[in-house]
Amino acid sequence: MLRIAVLVSGGGTNLQAIIDSIASGDITDTQIVGVISNNKNAYALTRAKDADIPAFVVSPKDYDNRELFNRALLDTVDSLDADLIVLAGFLVVIPEIMIDAYENRIINIHPSLIPSFCGTGYYGLKVHEAALSRGVKVVGATVHFVDKGTDTGPIIMQKAVQVENGDTPSILQRRVMEQAEWIIMPKAIDKIAHGKVKVVDGIAIVED
Ligand code: GAR
Repeated sequence: MLRIAVLVSGGGTNLQAIIDSIASGDITDTQIVGVISNNKNAYALTRAKDADIPAFVVSPKDYDNRELFNRALLDTVDSLDADLIVLAGFLVVIPEIMIDAYENRIINIHPSLIPSFCGTGYYGLKVHEAALSRGVKVVGATVHFVDKGTDTGPIIMQKAVQVENGDTPSILQRRVMEQAEWIIMPKAIDKIAHGKVKVVDGIAIVED
């Protein structure tokens, strides 16, 4: 049984997709052992409680400095005894101490086809604003392992989505979620749960 901890900051639709995929059997041999938010008002916390999943808040506002917050975040993750940490819209830079402790055991969903529209400053709606400003016709989402760079870790899964005439950033964001994020995040977790993802020389190999 793969024990996953899901880290969230906002609405938690990707968390919901994972919860629903476990309930429907699209993800098997996997248990969400806890949800951690840096934001006490995140609706994702309500989703966790509704699904009877233990939920925790670790907010930078409650700590005197970043190092103390980073330590508290790592301690909370460690306390869950998780095999995999899933960043599902977690808008906090992951501390290096956590990346060292969980090498190739942290995955993230990013709302673009990496290496486009990623890195520092590209998160949430900003990614879709940038894609529309550039006029690209195909966008998408990426699930990747987290390393010490920003959105630079090994790519596990990607899915493309068409841009349509008249798209606004929020319309495009919703389509990328529906047609890509909520599909590839559960799929990637299921693959990992069944030992079908390995990293060789910095590249993720995913078996069918
Ligand atoms: C998602 O679109 C996710 O890809 C994005 O935040 C949103 C969270 O939505 N993550 C990033 O931009 C990370 N760089 P959710 O809370 O409804 O899952």
